[in-house]
Amino acid sequence: MPAVANPAVDTPSVQATQAAVDDILAELFARLGDRQDQLLPMLHGLQDSAGYIPPDRVPAIAAHFNLSRAEVHGVITFYHYFRTEPPPRCVVQVCRAEACQSMGSDSLLEHAERTLGCGLHGRSADGAFGLEPVYCLGQCASAPALTINEAVFARVSPARFDALMAAAMPREAV
Ligand code: FES
Repeated sequence: MPAVANPAVDTPSVQATQAAVDDILAELFARLGDRQDQLLPMLHGLQDSAGYIPPDRVPAIAAHFNLSRAEVHGVITFYHYFRTEPPPRCVVQVCRAEACQSMGSDSLLEHAERTLGCGLHGRSADGAFGLEPVYCLGQCASAPALTINEAVFARVSPARFDALMAAAMPREAV
């Protein structure tokens, strides 16, 4: 069984200030250059460092790569992975791949949806929790699996889900 992490403690804040986003962009522009095949690495780097891709930075990205804003926007919206708003403080990803489905991930997902009050790709009403699908976490022999702020947990029953969530993000701390 994987080590139990406390995502609220172990995961650094990924939400950058506006000034920090400018610094991140400048570093990425300098490091990756302006070849158009570097657009995807740039978007990944920006999201990894800033937590999301601020829509108001699309014009600068487009200008850097000599692309239209529509072309950059098209790439961002094509990939579900990219976010255009700050991420929730706690992101739960439930594995939807075959081994986990055969071991009860459907009911685990239903429990997560009821508990968080949102469906897949949604957010809880207070915006603190996000629920996303993921496809295989390398824990097939210990299914069903999920992640909480990128920490992987296996053999997750609904009761264990409740305990993990309480440890990760006590409601009074949200
Ligand atoms: S199918 Fe879920 S961890 Fe592999």
